[in-house]
Amino acid sequence: DSTTGFLVERLDSGNENEYMDTMTVYTASTTAPVNIATLKYWGKRDKSLNLPTNSSISVTLSQNDLRTLTSVATSESFTEDKLWLNGKQESINSPRTKACLDDLKKLRVELEEKDSSLPKLSQWGLHIVSENNFPTAAGLASSAAGFAALVVAISKLYKLPQDMSEISKIARKGSGSACRSLFGGYVAWDMGVKDNGEDSKAIEVAPINHWPNMKAAILVVSDDKKDTPSTSGMQTTVATSDLFQWRIKEVVPKRYEEMKQSILDKDFAKFGDLTMKDSNSFHSVCLDSSPPIFYLNDTSKKIIKLIHALNEQEGKIIAAYTFDAGPNAVVYYEEENESKVLVTDPEIYKGVSRIILTKVGDGPQDTEESLVN
Ligand code: DP6
Repeated sequence: DSTTGFLVERLDSGNENEYMDTMTVYTASTTAPVNIATLKYWGKRDKSLNLPTNSSISVTLSQNDLRTLTSVATSESFTEDKLWLNGKQESINSPRTKACLDDLKKLRVELEEKDSSLPKLSQWGLHIVSENNFPTAAGLASSAAGFAALVVAISKLYKLPQDMSEISKIARKGSGSACRSLFGGYVAWDMGVKDNGEDSKAIEVAPINHWPNMKAAILVVSDDKKDTPSTSGMQTTVATSDLFQWRIKEVVPKRYEEMKQSILDKDFAKFGDLTMKDSNSFHSVCLDSSPPIFYLNDTSKKIIKLIHALNEQEGKIIAAYTFDAGPNAVVYYEEENESKVLVTDPEIYKGVSRIILTKVGDGPQDTEESLVN
């Protein structure tokens, strides 16, 4: 497993006993959550910096159910950066991972220049070990939690003084949605206006305790890998959809303010209405792309109808669906309505392979657990 892999690497990389006595190995670990957007990020104005064409909003999900644990280690004897994901060694050279490491090392260099007594961690190799507590096959995007954990673990290892919003700009370069996993509760990613991305960062809209009874049911419709990965899907949309121009200019800016307010007001009916509308707006611009991008399947559409029927029957919105770049549904509702929301048409279950019940959760957490000791 990854732990063993790491230890073998470590022991092989030096003059075993002697070096183990004299070389200090610095380590840090963190966990980071998954987030599911209620106002979708779809479209980049700068591909390499991952600058979005619109601001977005998400709910952070509980790490009891879904989380990435990442441990990092560095030592003078580590000559290269290395990465293990879910027990398998992976290339560290993807441009996105490299962009994150470069930024973090730069910030560490600043500290070392200010205080020459600090060990020169910026010059040593990093060993990074990361594991999810949920199967990648759960059909859930793991890149957000993954990049958030990577960036937070290294910022801890380097003892960087920057706050979470600042660090979120680095996570953003790994994967846009990752910047939102640096906070718990209700989170916005402010798109910013600058070309260098210095103001494109995550901010907390409200902490978990502000609206703690928010629950999420993840209906896993398919474990398959996405049809069209989000990165390329959004490029197609930006390049070809006319409707997309309307979405980013007329629809999202207003919705962004309204959704933040609905969270501050704990107004579920408003929040749910905006969440469903935004999911449908996002899937509409996908369909309006050329060639069209389809993420919803027949089961997804049945879930949409069922939730509308339920809300109709209740006379108010008590449940809200949202779909990312795939057919799996996330249904948000308040805890007190759980029994109403979970009673559902047996037809639905034919297309659903499993349901994960979870709730709003905390941001990245320090942990005693380590994958490297
Ligand atoms: C539909 O963050 O995965 O889930 O920045 O290219 O890595 P990259 O894209 P990614 O896109 C997420 C798209 C989405 C909506 C959202 O999470 O806001």
